[in-house]
Amino acid sequence: MQSSSHGRSSRKRYLLLSIAALILSAAGVISLRIAEAQLPAGRDVVEVCKGCHADYVQSYLAHRHGQAGNVRGPDCQTCHGNAEAHVKAGGGRGVGGVLGFSNKTISADRKAGVCLSCHEGNRHLAFWDAGKHRKNDVSCNNCHTLHGTPGKGSTIALVAPDPLVAPYETTVRQLQYETCTSCHRQIRSQLLRPSHHPIVEGRITCTDCHNPHGALSHAMVKSESVVQLCTSCHAEKRGPFIWGHPPVEENCLTCHNSHGSNHARLLAEKAPNVCQDCHDAAKHPGTVYGGGGGWNTIPPGGTPNTRLIARGCVNCHFHIHGSNAPANRGKYFLR
Ligand code: HEC
Ligand code: HEC
Ligand code: HEC
Ligand code: HEC
Ligand code: HEC
Ligand code: HEC
Ligand code: HEC
Ligand code: HEC
Ligand code: HEC
Ligand code: HEC
Repeated sequence: MQSSSHGRSSRKRYLLLSIAALILSAAGVISLRIAEAQLPAGRDVVEVCKGCHADYVQSYLAHRHGQAGNVRGPDCQTCHGNAEAHVKAGGGRGVGGVLGFSNKTISADRKAGVCLSCHEGNRHLAFWDAGKHRKNDVSCNNCHTLHGTPGKGSTIALVAPDPLVAPYETTVRQLQYETCTSCHRQIRSQLLRPSHHPIVEGRITCTDCHNPHGALSHAMVKSESVVQLCTSCHAEKRGPFIWGHPPVEENCLTCHNSHGSNHARLLAEKAPNVCQDCHDAAKHPGTVYGGGGGWNTIPPGGTPNTRLIARGCVNCHFHIHGSNAPANRGKYFLR
């Protein structure tokens, strides 16, 4: 909050008007004078607020909302409510019933209601009510800042907490994941695992996969199924293949993690375990070479089964997502 001489003078002018109105109303000339004491309508109200909230006025004018051309945009009172009493009382936190978005005693729904009065029609917001965020009292202003963040240029300005991890960025460009992971700490830790989707590197964003405004799908992902989501970028895994692998067609997450993993290629487990969850270890390949055929070699000190080392099963079953090769090469996903 700042004050300027210009603001002080407009405040003085306003106070003088109020006093004048009071005197005149006592004299019985009410209606016309009271009207003069009202705050100016629409964007002109900015002049009154400026004296005490210069920085908020400046950031408002820089936002899409306050740009001159945006005639459908809100003014201060559209969002903060009628500020008549607030100004009359000389301002102050909790004074005059203005809606303060940082005020935790005001419900998230009421705050969101302000925004939805205009943005309800946006198709990205269609499932806001059903979304996990609304249901957990997260409101629009927990992600969006309406008054900007100094030094972090962004059209759709997101709340920018101090970076939580050593940033990989080489620019001051704000990365969206910083906003999301300020709450989603577990996801943040997944992003720092050796194998991860390149989100901290800024190549893809959380909202490439999720709709933060709500969706009916599992985990608010943008597609109806996981396979659809993943193959929207990894199209070569979509098939159809002459020889398809049923778990791939069913759900990529049977074998992969979505955010990050300690195993190469985002695998949920290391091969061969990831395969042997379904394929019986007692048959091929467990016993093909005879002997122990596992990590526990018989006799002790022998070599472990080659099918279990390095990329394990995928050394031979290379086209694990499906194959169009003829005969057994295709059928068994071999090289
Ligand atoms: C006479 C100075 C003054 C004027 C004029 C003024 N305010 Fe304030 N306002 C304040 C002060 C002081 C605070 C408390 C700020 C703080 O504690 O950081 C405040 C707080 C607020 C808050 C937060 C309230 C809360 O409960 O959290 C809002 C919203 C607000 N003002 C909006 C406006 C708007 C909109 C206008 C113009 C119509 C306006 N103010 C005009 C002085 C003023
Ligand atoms: C689109 C809705 C919207 C408009 C328009 C808007 N504000 Fe805000 N204002 C907010 C939100 C949301 C916050 C919470 C902080 C943030 O988002 O950066 C806020 C914060 C504030 C605060 C700090 C108190 C608090 O609640 O944190 C003041 C003071 C304020 N605004 C004054 C103004 C003034 C003056 C104008 C007009 C020039 C204005 N605002 C226009 C939504 C709006
Ligand atoms: C009086 C109506 C109105 C209200 C209230 C309102 N907005 Fe907006 N908002 C607009 C308009 C109009 C635009 C410009 C849309 C366009 O050009 O498509 C806009 C644009 C935006 C944008 C996009 C900015 C950009 O740079 O593209 C965001 C984000 C946004 N509003 C969030 C909010 C949030 C959050 C709130 C509540 C705190 C809010 N709005 C309240 C009318 C409103
Ligand atoms: C969990 C964080 C989060 C919440 C909560 C949130 N938003 Fe957003 N919003 C975003 C992100 C991230 C983007 C940018 C999306 C992109 O780049 O695809 C965005 C974009 C927007 C846009 C502009 C682009 C578009 O999709 O049309 C508008 C308008 C908007 N949000 C309004 C709102 C309103 C209104 C609310 C509250 C009802 C809200 N948002 C709540 C994160 C959020
Ligand atoms: C490549 C697509 C993709 C990206 C990018 C992505 N997610 Fe996810 N996310 C998913 C999928 C798919 C699930 C469902 C996982 C499941 O059910 O095992 C999920 C689940 C979640 C969940 C709920 C389950 C859990 O693990 O807690 C949260 C919260 C979440 N994601 C947040 C984020 C955040 C925050 C980001 C950005 C840092 C992000 N996601 C980026 C695909 C993605
Ligand atoms: C202010 C804190 C906050 C911020 C910021 C936030 N979230 Fe959330 N998010 C929550 C809470 C609380 C829940 C519900 C509890 C849970 O599932 O962890 C949730 C749930 C989710 C879920 C659904 C998880 C499920 O199990 O269905 C996804 C996906 C998600 N958030 C993604 C995001 C993305 C993407 C962003 C950034 C654009 C974001 N969140 C920003 C607090 C936040
Ligand atoms: C928005 C696009 C996008 C979506 C959607 C997407 N990915 Fe990715 N994925 C990428 C990018 C980009 C890379 C990094 C590729 C590179 O570095 O060459 C990647 C890499 C991978 C890798 C290799 C990781 C490594 O360590 O080498 C796997 C496995 C993967 N994704 C699986 C998935 C799965 C499973 C899903 C669905 C939950 C999915 N992807 C959804 C863009 C996407
Ligand atoms: C049966 C387990 C399994 C399923 C299900 C699965 N994958 Fe994989 N995926 C693997 C294995 C194993 C690797 C490692 C291959 C290697 O090391 O050469 C891999 C590697 C990848 C890679 C990185 C290497 C490459 O080939 O580009 C991507 C991307 C990928 N998978 C995407 C997907 C997508 C998308 C789906 C769902 C359509 C999916 N995976 C389903 C087991 C699976
Ligand atoms: C979720 C269970 C599941 C997982 C995990 C899984 N598979 Fe499969 N796999 C199947 C099913 C089901 C079939 C089809 C069997 C059939 O058609 O009789 C199959 C078929 C195969 C076939 C062709 C065999 C045939 O008889 O047609 C090979 C080879 C194979 N899988 C290798 C692997 C490898 C290697 C992995 C690990 C990277 C793996 N699978 C992980 C379920 C799984
Ligand atoms: C050294 C190469 C090689 C390795 C390593 C390997 N396989 Fe195979 N696998 C094959 C060949 C070749 C066939 C086809 C056998 C045939 O033609 O009868 C096959 C067949 C299969 C079949 C279908 C027939 C059956 O016996 O059920 C499955 C399932 C299978 N492998 C799973 C696995 C799994 C799981 C692993 C890792 C634990 C693995 N394979 C490791 C070469 C290999």
